[in-house]
Amino acid sequence: MSAALAEHCGPATLDLGCGTGESTITRATADPSRLVIGIDRSSARLDRHRPVPANARLVRANIDDVLATARAAEWTLDEALVLYPNPYPKSGQQSRRLYGRPALFDLLAVARTIVVRTNWAVYAHEFAIAVEAAGGPSVTPQRWAPATATSAFERKYLAAGHALWAVVVDQSGRAGSPDRATTATPSPIARAR
Ligand SMILES: C[S@@+](CC[C@H](N)C(=O)[O-])C[C@H]1O[C@@H](n2cnc3c(N)ncnc32)[C@H](O)[C@@H]1O
Repeated sequence: MSAALAEHCGPATLDLGCGTGESTITRATADPSRLVIGIDRSSARLDRHRPVPANARLVRANIDDVLATARAAEWTLDEALVLYPNPYPKSGQQSRRLYGRPALFDLLAVARTIVVRTNWAVYAHEFAIAVEAAGGPSVTPQRWAPATATSAFERKYLAAGHALWAVVVDQSGRAGSPDRATTATPSPIARAR
């Protein structure tokens, strides 16, 4: 992954929790100048979508490990996609959600634009609160109603008639962006309280 990024001169996207990689391939096909790296811990899901375009990679890895590595290596990515992340909906599972884990600080440090989509309004709103608590910009979740789905879960939720939400964190105009957040506090949710 680091070799691919080192060789690549154009824009780069991390598709975090890409599942079968459909969104990775769609993004890479739409912009051939962009390197798109899909990350998922499930080889069963990743293996369902081959082959991939030359400017895409599907990598089996843990999101938190990739983000920590990316930050330590000072990668700068212009985009991170977080499409339909595992919601961990029970109240006791809040710290397992991406915005409740220290990985959020690494995400804010390496990605200029972060795009989150979910079918759970609570997740979208709490993600926005956690971003601000972690030192990121103030963002307002918006309803998301695409004409066509870009991922398997988006297709599933659209077919089921679910309302979808998007959170777009744009750090491009901010001083020191994207390497500005700190890992000093273990959970942005804890900070928000
Ligand atoms: C609900 S699915 C969404 C998949 C895809 N983004 C989509 O929209 O169809 C969430 C995916 O995130 C992956 N995932 C969850 N936690 C992860 C982690 N810590 N590291 C890597 N992948 C993870 C799961 O294996 C699963 O494929």
